Amino acid sequence: MIIVIDGPAGSGKSSTARAVADKLDIQYLDSGALYRTLTLMYLESGKDKTKFFELLNRKSISFFYEEGTFHVSVGKRDITEQIRTVEVNNHVSTVAALPKSRQFVNNLMHQAVQKETWIAEGRDLGTAVFPDAELKFFMVADTDVRAERRHRELKAQGADVTLDEVKRNIIERDQKDSRRKKDPLKKAPDAVEVDTSEMTFEQQVDFICSRITNKFETQT
Ligand code: CDP
Ligand code: CDP
Repeated sequence: MIIVIDGPAGSGKSSTARAVADKLDIQYLDSGALYRTLTLMYLESGKDKTKFFELLNRKSISFFYEEGTFHVSVGKRDITEQIRTVEVNNHVSTVAALPKSRQFVNNLMHQAVQKETWIAEGRDLGTAVFPDAELKFFMVADTDVRAERRHRELKAQGADVTLDEVKRNIIERDQKDSRRKKDPLKKAPDAVEVDTSEMTFEQQVDFICSRITNKFETQT
C-alpha cells in the first residue's frame, strides 16, 4: 500500500509523515531528500549539467529511514546532513525542474516501494509518481506560518539566517515548484486537503493515522 502527502515547503509533510510511519510501523520515503541529493551532486559538479548527469549515471544513491532520520548516501558517502544547507535550499527547485532529474528520482522511488506499506511525501507524488496511491493527502499552511516553522528549525540547527530570507526562499520555491512544466506541485483531485495553519502537530498526525487505519480496515 502507498500513502502520499504532497504540499508546499514547511506545511508539515515530512515531520508528520515520519511520526505516522513511527506510529503505524510503516516505511517512510522523503522524495525531497532525493532531489536535494541530486542538487548536492549538481553543486559539486560545478553547476555543469553535462558533468552532473555523468555523475548521476556513475554513482549509486541509497537511502533508509531510522529513528526519525531519512539517511541518504552517494556511494559510500553519507550526505544526510549536507543536503540540508541553505545553498542546497537555494538551488533545489532549479535541479528538480530538469526532466532528467525527475525521471531519475521517480525510477529510484518506484524501485524502492515494491514491497510493504509506505508513506511518501513530496510535491507530485499523488499526481505524477503514484497516481494510483491508495490514500492521498495535500498539506497546506499560511506562508507566514510555514516561514516561522522553517526559521525556528534552521535556528535550532545553528544556521545564521533571518526570517525574511527563509520566507523569500519558501515563496520562490513554491513558485518554481508550481509553475514548472514537468510535474508541478498540484493537489490531486482525489487528495484530502489538510490545512495545518491552526492545527497542532498531534492533531494532524492523529487525523492522518485515523484515515490510514480506516482504509486498512475496509481493505481487510
Ligand atoms: O522540506 P522542504 O519542503 O523544504 O523541501 P523538500 O521536501 O526537501 O523538497 C525540496 C525541493 O525538492 C522542493 O522545493 C522541490 O523543488 C523539489 N521536490 C520536487 O520537485 N518534487 C518532489 N516530489 C519533492 C521535492
Ligand atoms: O516537509 P515540510 O517542508 O512540509 O515540513 P516539515 O519539514 O515537516 O516542517 C514543518 C515544521 O513545522 C516542523 O518543525 C514541525 O514540527 C512544525 N509544525 C508542524 O509541522 N505542524 C504544526 N501544526 C506545527 C509545527
